[in-house]
Amino acid sequence: MTQDELKKAAAAAAIAQVSEGSVVGVGTGSTANHFIDQLATIKHRIAGAVASSEATKRRLEGHGITVFDLNQVDELPVYVDGADEINPALQMIKGGGGALTREKIVAAVARKLVCIADASKRVPVLGGFPLPIEVIPMALGHVGRELARLGGTPVLRAGFVTDNGNLIVDVGGLVIVDPVELETRLNQIVGVVTCGLFARRPADVCLLATAAGVQTLSAGG
Ligand code: A5P
Repeated sequence: MTQDELKKAAAAAAIAQVSEGSVVGVGTGSTANHFIDQLATIKHRIAGAVASSEATKRRLEGHGITVFDLNQVDELPVYVDGADEINPALQMIKGGGGALTREKIVAAVARKLVCIADASKRVPVLGGFPLPIEVIPMALGHVGRELARLGGTPVLRAGFVTDNGNLIVDVGGLVIVDPVELETRLNQIVGVVTCGLFARRPADVCLLATAAGVQTLSAGG
């Protein structure tokens, strides 16, 4: 199976997580796009969706799925999204597509966070994938110096502006042995909007597509 076929298999498996009549939180990226396409096949059975990016909103609406503003919604039983890396505790690096801030907001509201991923995303220790950080433009220099002090190599994502009008810095060279501690430290840097570590709020379940089938992983499993 190709990587894209594995992403599609993980996305298809996530449909079983969606409850009748609910509003579904929907992530961003190529795996989430497969989920949106699957969701379209059951759109008459859901109330609608909340999107984690403008791109996701457009794709959902293109399928005729009602998109709610998060503030219109009292509860979000499930949020389904991809990841750039996921460790055995189901902590993740996200933001490869630059949507990390809205993804983290939707994840904070959702009762259950379902990660859909192909097997290449599963790692023992986070940090191989450069950690995306959304930064307020005027703070770029300051944030870059602070990130370098933490031992990382920050690189500005060229020509990219987030849905919120900010910049993304991708930080390489981090071996993230304590993701919760690093997420907390990064959150304290003035000018950082969001870091792409989802450690304080990890996934509740990971649907990991392998050549042998889709595995359902919970933390530690
Ligand atoms: C988007 O900002 C990201 O968090 C994505 O969820 C992540 O990059 C996974 O993307 P793919 O599904 O395209 O691999």
